[in-house]
Amino acid sequence: MRLQLATWPEVDEYLRTYKGIIMPIGSTEQHGPSGLVGTDALTAEAIGQRLGDEVDAYVAPTISVGMAQHHLGFSGSMTLKPSTLLLVIKDMVDSLTVHGFERFFFVNGHGGNIATVTAAFSEVYADSSLGGASNRAPVKCALHNWFMMPGVVKLAEELYGDAEGSHATASEVAVTYALFPETAARVRNAPMEPGTAPDGDIYDAADYRRSFPDGRIGSNPTLAKAEHGEKFMQVAVDDLAKLYREFMGS
Ligand code: NI
Repeated sequence: MRLQLATWPEVDEYLRTYKGIIMPIGSTEQHGPSGLVGTDALTAEAIGQRLGDEVDAYVAPTISVGMAQHHLGFSGSMTLKPSTLLLVIKDMVDSLTVHGFERFFFVNGHGGNIATVTAAFSEVYADSSLGGASNRAPVKCALHNWFMMPGVVKLAEELYGDAEGSHATASEVAVTYALFPETAARVRNAPMEPGTAPDGDIYDAADYRRSFPDGRIGSNPTLAKAEHGEKFMQVAVDDLAKLYREFMGS
């Protein structure tokens, strides 16, 4: 149930019974030679929407640009600074709180967002703790990374072992290939050397480009198949649905 496809009287009616909303958040950044720039936003959006259908909850517009400063050495990558992203998240939560939403369930597709999303939640709570007027309802926020769900980690281990890697992973690339088969056919055979990319730590964009020349970290996305992507979405939604229902009971 996309919030964007609802009318305001429908949202009013929903809020009589339900207080939860799913908030997909991703990133727009390079994902190696064969992965899409929109991977993290597209995967979080698709999984967020399937989760919304599964648990009958509204799904907010996807936050499609995240904290990705380290990817700016590669064309097409975009970032919000941590301070900007924090305010975007806070304003979105505050807006929906005005209408009576009280439980914000973030479905995240990008590791680089985690610290900032968590800090934004602290800003939301600080308003309430310090007696500010903007958060009168008992607001609770939760952050779940679809790529870290137990079912996803287990399936990635079975399918790819160590070649799953940590950026431009085989699993996230597989999800985009399932969602966009025609695009996958165009990009999937891009040459890359070595098969499995180097591993290491992340600093700024110039350092990243030197350490990880084609953009991947530790991954071999040539193993990614569309049929894997369908399975990843399914197990992610199963795990997230349990967490959503627990969260709504809290
Ligand atoms: Ni990614």
